[in-house]
Amino acid sequence: MQEFDVVVIGGGPGGYVAAIRCAQLGLRTACVDAWINKQDEPALGGTCLNTGCIPSKALLDSSEHFHRVQHRLGVHGINVKECTLDLATMIKRKDEIVRGLTGGVAALFLKNKVTWIKGQARLLNNTQIEISPTHPKHPKQQTVQAKHIIIATGSAPTPLSSLPIDQKNIVDSTGALDFTEVPKRLAVIGGGVIGLELGSVWQRLGSEVTVLVRGTNLLGKCDETVATEAQRLLVQQGLDLRFNASPVAFNSKNKLSQLVYRDTQGEQTLKVDKVLVATGRSPNTHGLGARAAGIQIDDKGFIIVDHQWRTSLPNVYAIGDVIGGAMLAHKASEEGVAIAERIAGQSGHVNYATIPWVIYTWPEIAWVGETAQALRDKGIEYKSGSFPFKANGRARAMDETNGFVKILADAQTDRILGVHVIGPYASEMIAEAVVAMEFSASSEDIARTAHAHPTLSEAMHEAALAVDKRTLHF
Ligand code: FAD
Ligand code: NAI
Repeated sequence: MQEFDVVVIGGGPGGYVAAIRCAQLGLRTACVDAWINKQDEPALGGTCLNTGCIPSKALLDSSEHFHRVQHRLGVHGINVKECTLDLATMIKRKDEIVRGLTGGVAALFLKNKVTWIKGQARLLNNTQIEISPTHPKHPKQQTVQAKHIIIATGSAPTPLSSLPIDQKNIVDSTGALDFTEVPKRLAVIGGGVIGLELGSVWQRLGSEVTVLVRGTNLLGKCDETVATEAQRLLVQQGLDLRFNASPVAFNSKNKLSQLVYRDTQGEQTLKVDKVLVATGRSPNTHGLGARAAGIQIDDKGFIIVDHQWRTSLPNVYAIGDVIGGAMLAHKASEEGVAIAERIAGQSGHVNYATIPWVIYTWPEIAWVGETAQALRDKGIEYKSGSFPFKANGRARAMDETNGFVKILADAQTDRILGVHVIGPYASEMIAEAVVAMEFSASSEDIARTAHAHPTLSEAMHEAALAVDKRTLHF
């Protein structure tokens, strides 16, 4: 039986990063992963690299180019006579990016001497894992021994009983990354992150996209003013948002498909070609044998851990989507590094207060820390400063004037409590705010820091000045 210091179950951004860090720290490490990719090969990278962050961003970028060439170049004096879509090439490019990156993780495993075991893991107890084959080329059933086990088995789309996924008419996020033609009418169930990102992709490529939103608010996790601006811009782009809407059924007869949903007016029908179900993700513990091995799992299926990612079974830890919290790749990776360091006797930690969020619509939405509404709910007094991109020179040069930066700072100490950006490349801009908050900066610290001119980041500088009501350019 092979023996390891650490066996990581799951090769997503939580698991593969944990495995690499363990190996860097001198621990004999294996990573077991069950993933079989589109090309019918075992692949590392988990949801993030194979069917999540990376392929969705590849299509978001491609579709944004398509939309820009058609609608946004005229203002620059560039007239494009004909712009046609070659969807097969767009999808192939996405697949090549995925393959390149997942192959890159395999190369990193080789470089760091992490043993990659291809198969489905089942915990027998807190030191033994049984691995069953998931691919005919790797048929070996085996049991391995580990001093420490890290569970990083991730999550999967939450199914809706009224709309079972067939990946043809009714798809989940994985299916929506691989349409072979642009659906004329796409209904999206769920106005969350996936719904808005993938809804944007297909809307830019020509679909009429209707989004059914369960409640009255879109983007409930965002700061209230950002959510309002995002909704305005998404509607302006052509997304048809229907609020208080819950799906009832999908009927398909004689090539005519209809989605039946219920809203405050009663039952409605919508002609559709495809339906994307994007109603959240659930933890992946299926077949893992966690409960049988004595690991406590909550009523939603998340593995219960303490503040050092310890499960109820000694020397067995869990990280990433399977423990809940923000279901984000970088949150999973941070936990992976921290737990590896703890196993090696160091004191790795994760500052959950400074985990950034990004939604890759256009404009992008990014934030870190508290929203204004959360501060009010907690009774924390705050000052707020905002600066619009329409007053930023670089944004005007780019013809990207929608959105703003908003900084929330403690009313007494001026310590930054939250930063919210909706605008061009908000995903890149938020890094400055994350570093500032990590160092407990005040808004005055950002206000006193030189920002290159002309850059989008000057909007961050001006928002910090605005906290003290001394913005210079607005
Ligand atoms: P996963 O990436 O889900 O990996 C888990 C791995 O464990 C998988 O490879 C699985 O095969 C394996 N596994 C499960 N059970 C077993 C078993 N018993 N034995 C062996 N292997 C097993 N996050 C972001 O931060 N930014 C984004 O832009 C972003 N975009 C996304 C877009 C989409 C469409 C989706 C679906 C998700 C997106 N996410 C994004 C979320 C992100 O993908 C997840 O938060 C992240 O992948 C979680 O990492 P993880 O390592 O916990 O799990
Ligand atoms: P989500 O939690 O963002 O949104 C799900 C939406 O579906 C919510 O608005 C919810 O109200 C709605 N909903 C739930 N049940 C419903 C029902 N029965 N009927 C109608 N609506 C219903 O989940 P989503 O979009 O599926 O994404 C899952 C997770 O993946 C995200 O929370 C995020 O953690 C991660 N992700 C991150 C991305 C990023 O960082 N840019 C991109 C995509 C996904």
